[in-house]
Amino acid sequence: MKILITGANGQLGRELQRQYGKRDDELILTDVKDLDITDVIAVNKFVNENKPDVIINCAAHTQVDKCEEQIELATKINTVGPKNLAAAAFNIGAEIVQVSTDYVFDGEGNKELTEFDATNPQSVYGATKLEGEKLVKALNPKHYIVRTAWLYGDGGNFIKTMLKLSKDRDELKVVNDQIGTPTSTVDLANVIIKLVDEKNYGLFHCTCKGVCSWYDFAVEIFKIKNINIKVNPCTSDEFPTAAKRPKYSVLRNYMLELTTGDITRDWKESLREYLAELEI
Ligand SMILES: NC(=O)c1ccc[n+]([C@@H]2O[C@H](COP(=O)([O-])OP(=O)(O)OC[C@H]3O[C@@H](n4cnc5c(N)ncnc54)[C@H](OP(=O)(O)O)[C@@H]3O)[C@@H](O)[C@H]2O)c1
Repeated sequence: MKILITGANGQLGRELQRQYGKRDDELILTDVKDLDITDVIAVNKFVNENKPDVIINCAAHTQVDKCEEQIELATKINTVGPKNLAAAAFNIGAEIVQVSTDYVFDGEGNKELTEFDATNPQSVYGATKLEGEKLVKALNPKHYIVRTAWLYGDGGNFIKTMLKLSKDRDELKVVNDQIGTPTSTVDLANVIIKLVDEKNYGLFHCTCKGVCSWYDFAVEIFKIKNINIKVNPCTSDEFPTAAKRPKYSVLRNYMLELTTGDITRDWKESLREYLAELEI
């Protein structure tokens, strides 16, 4: 298979390269300098010339707080970009994978959310990602839309921030009233590869299994790394942010369970593997 990965230098893009690199597929790797997904003419030209079988869009404006003021830029990258890619793929009969987010929900209920639950984004990031999903769905029937959350991999992320902070401090405050599921790019990449292999089109939730707060996540990181630091739980009010975060943002991988099988691991198991391989 010939696979075009956009946003290939991001966390997920790098992991997909690593996982697809174990197979015989032909990869075309691009990031914003090679192919700006917001440029419709460039996207159409690139896709027509290279003729991939599938486009996996890993590009996004992921700086959630910055999106609140950079509304036009967020709309271009998170909505217009996926639209361009979905339509260009459709024109040559190719498939499109669009990666989306738990921020499409408000997270106000205390229940896990399936693909059948109503969306209600509370931030510019969430709203622009949701509009991206809708356009991909409308413009290309051969779509895989995969929502994930609390993603970490080869790039800047919460785990690296915690480990860095622990070098100069013996005490930390971490938010205990936002609940979700840390998800390794390894688990997400393997699910995407399986969906594409099986041509299992549609909308899917994909996070690791289990539930925790950011505080629990931090405690587990230090436990695995044997770092002696006092972690104090606090509320989100103590760390005000420009973008509103969903409070209870637990996705159930319901469509995976019902179709291809849910191959994701428990979040603690994936975290242990990540930390064992991390050089910091
Ligand atoms: N990170 C999370 O916690 C999280 C949670 C839920 C869902 N997601 C979703 O998962 C996907 C992958 O996230 P990630 O954490 O791997 O993202 P990431 O590390 O921020 O990578 C995004 C990549 O997209 C590139 N990019 C930005 N604008 C572009 C453009 N106009 N054209 C082409 N490339 C562009 C970025 O380049 P520059 O760095 O040069 O800008 C970067 O290499 C995204 O769809 C994201 O919305 C992420």
